[in-house]
Amino acid sequence: MLEACCTVFLFFFCYQVASAEVHREGHYVAAVYEHRPILSPNPATLTDRRSALELMSRNLYIYEEQVIAAAKQGAQIIVFPEDGIHGFNFTRESIYPYLEFVPCPQSVKWNPCREPHLFSDTEVLQQLSCMALRSKMFLVANIGAKQPCEYNDPLCPPDGRYQFNTDVVFNANGTLVARYRKQNLYFEYAFNTPPEVDYVLFDTPFAGKFGVFTCFDILFYEPAVSLVKEYNVKQVVYPTAWMNQLPLLSAVEFQQAFATAFNINVLAANIHHPALGMTGSGIYTPLKSFIYHDMESHDGKLIVAEISVMTPEHEPQLESNARPRKSIEYPHNNFASLHIDDQVCNKKEQKAHCWVAEKEDKEAPLIFYREMMYDNFTLVPVRGTKGELQVCANTLCCYLSYQRPTISDELYALGVFDGLHTVHGTYYVQVCALVKCGGLSYSTCGQEVTDATALIDFELGGNFSTSYIFPLLLMSGINLDFTDHLGWKNNYYFMSKSGLSSGLVTAALYGRWYERD
Ligand SMILES: *[C@@H]1O[C@H](CO)[C@@H](O)[C@H](O)[C@H]1NC(C)=O
Ligand SMILES: *[C@@H]1O[C@H](CO)[C@@H](O)[C@H](O)[C@H]1NC(C)=O
Ligand SMILES: *[C@@H]1O[C@H](CO)[C@@H](O)[C@H](O)[C@H]1NC(C)=O
Ligand SMILES: *[C@@H]1O[C@H](CO)[C@@H](O)[C@H](O)[C@H]1NC(C)=O
Repeated sequence: MLEACCTVFLFFFCYQVASAEVHREGHYVAAVYEHRPILSPNPATLTDRRSALELMSRNLYIYEEQVIAAAKQGAQIIVFPEDGIHGFNFTRESIYPYLEFVPCPQSVKWNPCREPHLFSDTEVLQQLSCMALRSKMFLVANIGAKQPCEYNDPLCPPDGRYQFNTDVVFNANGTLVARYRKQNLYFEYAFNTPPEVDYVLFDTPFAGKFGVFTCFDILFYEPAVSLVKEYNVKQVVYPTAWMNQLPLLSAVEFQQAFATAFNINVLAANIHHPALGMTGSGIYTPLKSFIYHDMESHDGKLIVAEISVMTPEHEPQLESNARPRKSIEYPHNNFASLHIDDQVCNKKEQKAHCWVAEKEDKEAPLIFYREMMYDNFTLVPVRGTKGELQVCANTLCCYLSYQRPTISDELYALGVFDGLHTVHGTYYVQVCALVKCGGLSYSTCGQEVTDATALIDFELGGNFSTSYIFPLLLMSGINLDFTDHLGWKNNYYFMSKSGLSSGLVTAALYGRWYERD
């Protein structure tokens, strides 16, 4: 009896000493690291295991520094990016020396740091496990995995092994607790798609369950949406190696949209490689985000933040918090009366004052087509200090009601796309987007823009055929803002915002119609 009490007492005492901070009830401290990887100069060339380990150790050395730095700030979980240890641009053969054997954590309880000799070719796993153990935090990292298969397995590749893009999760004791094999590969010829979809969850003592998926997975139903809808996941760890594409698919923009759309927390770690357009990591909650996006810096970045626990039972103060959720009185029935100047400004006159003159025009608005992110968008210009616009394509009609105090020397347009996206992946999207154009001529709409000054109050909506709609709100300098209202009103899904924090780059409703892929 006495002994038990002492144990309890000692355990409590140790805990107090070991943890850098006392954690607030219902909260935890998360960390993500945007890593600038040390890459193999010749990824397509064959090398040996020793050289592969040498290169990977250099990245792991940086990981260890970050784990220690995160521990000092009280982090209980840290997430590292996809491809952060081995790099990218390998062939199936050339990546082989970088691959490790990752046993199924459900079949074998294994602590690679404490039992290093249980499996061969697991040096990276051992180091990751030791980092988790030493710093007493959950650790999520991405590695390449190999798994022998039988020739009588009809899916077994001819070389007798599977190669998977794999996330591994260690608990605070260094035990391997989860393994996720990426489902939606992005032209990664070194890797195989797993024979069946991995739905991976892991449990933590500080925040309950987390789901796991990787990079391109965020655009597809399996497993990302399944985890949320069928498995009730409220928190996600998300290693990624994401190449930004404006105006709709920059990393931080879409990561936040996923957290907002599903009302979940997302811990997202991206690669830092500005030359390839890779930057953008963050810790996202439905109400607040802590992000990093930097195209100039050459350095990685550790983000540490204390956030609320999200569980299916416990949704912290969402209704009572800053974001009002009153219903929206839209759409107006009078979209026929569009305030559009029917005079096309010629190139010489394309200045702000040209748009000031508004006049009632019952005729068709000035519609034009531009390629935006390889899709043929139908657009109308946004002119004057206020107005209402409508533009349709296929079965999707988008509406915009807007107001701005002054007209800046910038051109905006409302665009719609309802169709199958076919470049760099095939997926069906329905999009309503208010975008800032690259210049003052219509041909510049859809270009990549990062800065803006216009403060536009707006309501943007559309009669979407899917319920999976990701709200994007990107501000000048790749900053984020949150919508005031979001939701369905009859058959229309709307977002609205007034009092923007800085100039508007993109406001969009990005719908995914998964059944149409
Ligand atoms: C990897 O390949 C992409 C496209 O295939 C190329 O643009 C990029 O420069 C390559 N990166 C490295 C680090 O070799
Ligand atoms: C970690 O190890 C300690 C001591 O061996 C044990 O009491 C605890 O349950 C372990 N925690 C987890 C999450 O496995
Ligand atoms: C875009 O769509 C419009 C309307 O369907 C069509 O007239 C135009 O040719 C298309 N543009 C391109 C580049 O495909
Ligand atoms: C959206 O509205 C347009 C115009 O009213 C209509 O033609 C179209 O069928 C609607 N789409 C859906 C999915 O209801």
